Amino acid sequence: MTSSKKTGNALSRRAFLKNTGKGSAAIAATATVAGQLSGCSDQSNSLSFTEIPHSLDHQHHIPEGYQSQVLMSWGDSLSNEDTFAPATLTAEQQATRFGYNNDFIGFMPLQDKADNSMQHAKSGNSQRGLLCINHEYTQPHLMFSGYQNEEDGELNTRKEHIAIEHQACGHTIMEVALDGDQWRVIKDSDYNRRITVTTPMQITGPAAGNPRLQTAADPTGTEVYGTLGNCAGGKTPWGTVLIAEEGFGGAFMGDLNSLQGDDAKERDNYERLSIGSSDNRQWGKHEPRFNIEKEPREANRFGWMVEFNPYDPHSKPRKLTTLGRFEHEGTTIVAKPGQPIVAYTGDDDEFQFFYKFVSSNNYNPDDYESNLGLLEEGTLYAARLNEDGSGEWLPLVYGQSFLIDRFGFHSQADVLIECRRAAEMIGATPMDRPEDIETNPVNDCTYVMLTKNKKRKTTDPGNMRPKNTAGHILEILHPGKDGNRDHTQLKFNWNTFILGGHPNSGNQNERGFYGTGPKGETVTEDGWFATPDNLAFDKLGNMWVATDGCEKFHFHDGLWAMPTSGPYRALPKHFFGCPLGAEICGPEFTPDGETLFLAVQHPADADGSTFDNPVHRWPDFDDSLPPRPSVLAIRKKGGGRVGS
Ligand code: FEO
Ligand code: CA
Ligand code: CA
Repeated sequence: MTSSKKTGNALSRRAFLKNTGKGSAAIAATATVAGQLSGCSDQSNSLSFTEIPHSLDHQHHIPEGYQSQVLMSWGDSLSNEDTFAPATLTAEQQATRFGYNNDFIGFMPLQDKADNSMQHAKSGNSQRGLLCINHEYTQPHLMFSGYQNEEDGELNTRKEHIAIEHQACGHTIMEVALDGDQWRVIKDSDYNRRITVTTPMQITGPAAGNPRLQTAADPTGTEVYGTLGNCAGGKTPWGTVLIAEEGFGGAFMGDLNSLQGDDAKERDNYERLSIGSSDNRQWGKHEPRFNIEKEPREANRFGWMVEFNPYDPHSKPRKLTTLGRFEHEGTTIVAKPGQPIVAYTGDDDEFQFFYKFVSSNNYNPDDYESNLGLLEEGTLYAARLNEDGSGEWLPLVYGQSFLIDRFGFHSQADVLIECRRAAEMIGATPMDRPEDIETNPVNDCTYVMLTKNKKRKTTDPGNMRPKNTAGHILEILHPGKDGNRDHTQLKFNWNTFILGGHPNSGNQNERGFYGTGPKGETVTEDGWFATPDNLAFDKLGNMWVATDGCEKFHFHDGLWAMPTSGPYRALPKHFFGCPLGAEICGPEFTPDGETLFLAVQHPADADGSTFDNPVHRWPDFDDSLPPRPSVLAIRKKGGGRVGS
């Protein structure tokens, strides 16, 4: 068995781009590519917008006939209209301001009269709601003056800057309302809230209270401060928000060899998650819990999914150990009345796995209280893909298969804490960095974004390209019919929906495969993309794919839209382009489909770019302001469904 190890600081782009890893068994995949196999019903192309070109400049780009609005940027106040002054920013100020590097966006509808969060969520109000936004990580060299480059910023961060960073990570909840065709942040709303690295949280599920989660500050192993690496996320029909702890390992410094006695077993666990790597952040110099030599177990309290109720500004977030501990990209829910809920989640690292959780209890759309604990009791499974296009979900249950004492698993808590090792041991399929996984609300098929894996040397089922630099998208079909599939079943079929890359690339490993239209239409020079990361579905079931890595192919990251069924299946069109250095995250539609919210993350993150000398200053282009990660609201001029 091999371990997949990400060396370096997973909280940083720098280390994010230099992962290492090893593949496992070499098995050729016999995948069907780009829509040749479809269990999905007919659907004409409802995407009639005018495609934008591939480009790479300092602006963002939208199609003709659309308008974009910068709704909120790093440093903007959540309570008043004062101007952001980065030179005098304090941690206390940052705690009430919009955080850095916005990622996941969830629009949670608000209505005037609601007894609970489920009633708000079910209202479908598209004019007023809460925007719930993750802040994945911080970049001192772009946030503060005086750092020479990214490495200098991360390894030599001043204490006062670390304190600001801790308040710039996490999550923002802010009330928004549509006035005419413009969105407005309600600056003094009681709902407005920041969740940060210092917010108290409860740990729930089988690993809560386990000795491996007990620290000097919390001998109970059930209370933890803060959340880290909040990448993508999800929403539940009972009105809570799920935020993923992804690249948290880079926050923990220290020597793995210092782990002795009972803690010695954490060496392999931590190495698999890049905890204690030599180029990790140095927060632990100022705060002992981030130094494994001083607090050997704090790192086991991160790497979980976090659930919280955005409609209650005093609610305490809960870390859900049921969903396993790894580098969660996000989690999305399938909830059908009278059935268990299913939660899909991916581990975004090279040669890692994707998972689903099936609740023990059933979802009841009419009983708010009964749904609150659904994610706290159930079974987690890892996906195994077979060469013949079939697949199975393998249970991660203590006492079954290799998950027994002889192999170092002494409880369900051990299985969940060391989820990567457990999934590897039971034979899950190592993937090319599973990012978002989401189920299409119309055809009920599930789609897995696999962003890239340049370390892959041999193929695995579902991962058919060695040195996969362009990424791909898998389609998962559970038993049932189009539009009504049983996601609780443990068998499925898979096929390849799209291979990223140019369709005529001379490099076989980068050659893209897309659908073909009814008149022989093929993907255009602007319609192809690479490195899929996040995704959303509009209410007609069109897939909207956000990318992170297209600059390697000499054009901006952005958003591409495509049908998943019908004659234009898997034929993408280019809708949005980022400013240089940025990736695009969090595509999120209002329930009426008339507003698309986008998170532009790490703008101007380019070689040589610093706070003092950035390559550009998007979106303000003001010499007194640095480039600022920002959330955009995009609408069709005159109204109407986005994409039409
Ligand atoms: Fe934070 Fe997997 O992207
Ligand atoms: Ca992502
Ligand atoms: Ca990303």
